[in-house]
Amino acid sequence: MSKFMEWIDARFPATKMWEDHLSKYYAPKNFNFLYFFGSLALLVLVNQIVTGVWLTMSFTPSAEEAFASVEYIMRDVEYGWILRYLHSTGASAFFIVVYLHMFRGLLYGSYQKPRELVWLFGMLIYLALMAEAFMGYLLPWGQMSYWGAQVIISLFGAIPVIGDDLTQWIRGDYLISGITLNRFFALHVVALPIVILGLVVLHILALHEVGSNNPDGVDIKKKKDENGIPLDGIPFHPYYTVKDIAGVVVFLFVFCAVVFFFPEMGGYFLEKPNFEQANAFKTPEHIAPVWYFTPFYAILRAVPDKLFGVIAMGAAIAVLFVLPWLDRSPVRSMRYKGWLSKIWLLVFCVAFVILGVLGVLAPTPGRTLLSQVCTVLYFAYFLLMPFYTRLEKVKPVPERVTG
Ligand code: HEM
Repeated sequence: MSKFMEWIDARFPATKMWEDHLSKYYAPKNFNFLYFFGSLALLVLVNQIVTGVWLTMSFTPSAEEAFASVEYIMRDVEYGWILRYLHSTGASAFFIVVYLHMFRGLLYGSYQKPRELVWLFGMLIYLALMAEAFMGYLLPWGQMSYWGAQVIISLFGAIPVIGDDLTQWIRGDYLISGITLNRFFALHVVALPIVILGLVVLHILALHEVGSNNPDGVDIKKKKDENGIPLDGIPFHPYYTVKDIAGVVVFLFVFCAVVFFFPEMGGYFLEKPNFEQANAFKTPEHIAPVWYFTPFYAILRAVPDKLFGVIAMGAAIAVLFVLPWLDRSPVRSMRYKGWLSKIWLLVFCVAFVILGVLGVLAPTPGRTLLSQVCTVLYFAYFLLMPFYTRLEKVKPVPERVTG
């Protein structure tokens, strides 16, 4: 074996890569359960790619046959139903895992210097993931696939001057048609997965360049032993590879329970109107995007003017990109930040969840008002951050990580 590895290592840095990224990558010893979600996001990514490849083998990307080919996968293809449910449940699981992963970043200030690029690559992944999910949702060619896409693509029409031409360019037709389905298929199956995989590699390379943050936000590289190894660091392999397996087991229990017993999740993971084939002449009574888009959809609807609504929705995502430069706190972790930061993070999370719920429901005057309040709070969390993070009194950060 060692002769074989010598031969490989003389030609390819296999051992070096193993050491740099696993056996000699020193991660802080105080990771908690919130640190499971990075490896879980990797697991879900692999699940989506593997099940996606197998689904593609039996799916027909044409307006005439797409819906029937999904039914064919569900009923006639051997294990087709499980492939489809793993993929559809995987889409929602991806967003649950990524939202918790991002929340961990907010909680422990993992986006702060020197991890700005880790955060930015993460945000690009998030954008690509939203595009990937949106395009994938058109493929089964159900009523919600069709009308959801219709609503979202028509938003580009609000852009002055180029709006109408732009929507037509995206659709490739005067209305959503088989042409749109074909291009979304190509982007969903080939282009975006390549982009996402590339970004994930950059995300992890950037992280390993500067080293992982931790729940204390303490820089473990400041205290090293005589061999230059951080005193509070432990090798990622075997310590965290084994610990991550525990997270994977718990995750798979929940994931399999959903796949086998609640694949539709009461209409949240697979929406009811999508069991009916797309019909350009029949608008569903109530159109709502899948749950992971609804906070942004609620922000869009909170603004009475269509163009400003689109701008607000875009700004809600764009503002996350500049987060590393909004936080002026001298400390990273919420453990040592002051009350203002803690309260604002709580307000932000509550507003985000309420917006998510409102985005699913049909609008009423009361709900619109609530979504306006939550939209203001959402933006206030970010826009006031440079002030409250500087004003508040922070606690002293310990020299070494705690427990
Ligand atoms: C496909 C999606 C993603 C994958 C596979 C992924 C993977 C990972 C992995 C494996 C880690 C190291 C383990 C950990 O700290 O949990 C990590 C860290 C990190 N990720 Fe992601 N990530 C994804 C999306 C995102 C997104 C959307 C963001 C935020 C916009 C983000 C921000 C971060 C940050 C800030 C860290 C460093 C955390 C720390 O050191 O405290 N990631 N990611």
